[in-house]
Amino acid sequence: MCGIIGYAGSSPALPYLLKGLEQLEYRGYDSAGIAVMEKGEPRVVKSVGSTARLREKVSGHSLSGGLGIGHTRWATHGVPSEANAHPQSSGPLYIVHNGIIENERILRSELEAGGEVFLSETDTETIVHLVNRAMRQGIAFPEAVRSILPLLEGSYSFLMAHADPSEPLVAVHRGAPLLLGTCSHGVFVASDMTAFPGDVHSTLPLEVDDMVMIRSDGRFEILSLTQGKERVATLVSRSHHGVHGKGEYPHYMFKEICEQPEMLDRLLAKRIRREDGRLSVRFSSEAERALSSARRIRIVGCGTSFHAGILGKYRIEALSGVPVEVDVASEFRYREPILDPDADLLVVLTQSGETADTLAALRMAREAGVPTLALVNVEGSTADREADATILLEAGPEFGVAATKTFLSQIALLTLVALFLAPDDRLREKEGRSREEILSDFLKLPMLLDKTLSLSTGVTAIARSFIEVSTVLFMGRGGDFPLALEGALKLKEISYIHAEGYAGGELKHGPLALVEKGVPVVSLLSPDERLVPKMVSNMKETLSRGAFLVSIGSERFQEEFSPVSSMSLSLPDCLPMFFPLVSAVPLQLLAYHTACFKGFDVDRPRNLAKSVTVE
Ligand code: F6R
Repeated sequence: MCGIIGYAGSSPALPYLLKGLEQLEYRGYDSAGIAVMEKGEPRVVKSVGSTARLREKVSGHSLSGGLGIGHTRWATHGVPSEANAHPQSSGPLYIVHNGIIENERILRSELEAGGEVFLSETDTETIVHLVNRAMRQGIAFPEAVRSILPLLEGSYSFLMAHADPSEPLVAVHRGAPLLLGTCSHGVFVASDMTAFPGDVHSTLPLEVDDMVMIRSDGRFEILSLTQGKERVATLVSRSHHGVHGKGEYPHYMFKEICEQPEMLDRLLAKRIRREDGRLSVRFSSEAERALSSARRIRIVGCGTSFHAGILGKYRIEALSGVPVEVDVASEFRYREPILDPDADLLVVLTQSGETADTLAALRMAREAGVPTLALVNVEGSTADREADATILLEAGPEFGVAATKTFLSQIALLTLVALFLAPDDRLREKEGRSREEILSDFLKLPMLLDKTLSLSTGVTAIARSFIEVSTVLFMGRGGDFPLALEGALKLKEISYIHAEGYAGGELKHGPLALVEKGVPVVSLLSPDERLVPKMVSNMKETLSRGAFLVSIGSERFQEEFSPVSSMSLSLPDCLPMFFPLVSAVPLQLLAYHTACFKGFDVDRPRNLAKSVTVE
């Protein structure tokens, strides 16, 4: 949720903290702050808004201290303000924190009753007061940190620095991710790898219940809180794969949309292999074992990942005959689902691998003895580490808050899973084609995505027509239904226009009441002979109520949908099972261009964060 970074070394910490915070800004950007342990007196600078503001504010200070911490915030306790921005402090201690302290109210009351004065509304401040109180009671730093951890409930991580720079920087991982990174001049610790500068050559993901003491001479000691002793861990060489930066693109989101053909090409080349003269879908042996043994697949995810899950259900059930259930993770974990360890495989979809509800579902399944498989983008993330098997999305780092290329990778992989599980005869019966033919067509999709990207002018024209509207409806049937949900989510999250997605068949059961003159309705039309005529009648139903009808369909059926549409986009023809991969692109571009026309910060939509590590 929030981004945290710390550095202890022989170089000035400040430039690294600022650069790292800029990279972490996608995790939260309500406010930001740094604390540098200058000899004599620590300096704290905080600002509301982006890290650019913080940089401006810091420019008047010359800070040379080699130990510092920084934070970019996504508010949970208290409004975005300088008082609530981190670092928070108490006595000689400074803290930055990610996650939630669930028993904060009780702790705060006790501390206030004991005379502690709170200057913020944050739960973070309780931690630093507790440690300071422990020190006043005679426990030395950093032991004082360890002593208060049993009092804290929740899933969190924090960094704590002491005003005396000869004291170590302390990092505590109690559920929110943290990584160490080492270089020739010191040690970094941050919520994710993107915050590390190029100088970092080796990294180490911390484990839950690790407490690390980092010294400015580059030494660090990891204490396992569960084992109560030092944990020996091996640093791994940092892969520089996926270099960051927007390059010539105006926004990360646009860059990430444009990267999709290349990303898909790489993904398919890895997963579709020619063996013994035949094309087949291959995953790791653990993932293949897990998939092949499942008699029922349970998919869970949140937001965009949930939408990918619905498409996964449609494809896997139709092609393989294996029953699939799909749930929003936050519902799954509390609705008391019936889990069967002998039949079920729980598949979690999560680009970040850190979404709190999705991880809770994963842990529930593990506790019930149900095997688990994670489809995840971030290698080394909690989902990757905790699931029995992983299929990596291999989309490269995604910085835009709105998921784009990771969604495409999820739906591509779920279609591959369906094809992996599909018996040959069933494939032929359903699709009228052999596996070889289908997989050869799949390998051509990146080219079709490239072609689709070049339809950008048509998309911008539609986006321009959305600037003044207050509601947009999206509808589709079959595999286009989850895409309608996703198209609506993309539009609402970055352009702040109210948008809803519906199954075409649901139109007359309610949503039609919203259609009046000028209301845009976006219809999606896969080249599916069974569904196109039904969608065209749904379109006509909205048209007769005055809808501004936008259709996005396969060029094969252009003559059916174009004449009834106010605006239309014809996409390259492909098998119906692949169409959502193609239509995802104009839906993402539509949201992107609409938000740009409206002048919004596309990469950092209000109130949202990239990684939702709290419930
Ligand atoms: C929307 C979006 C979110 C995420 C959701 C789950 O563009 O990005 O809806 O899809 O927060 O995140 P992950 O996939 O990281 O579990």
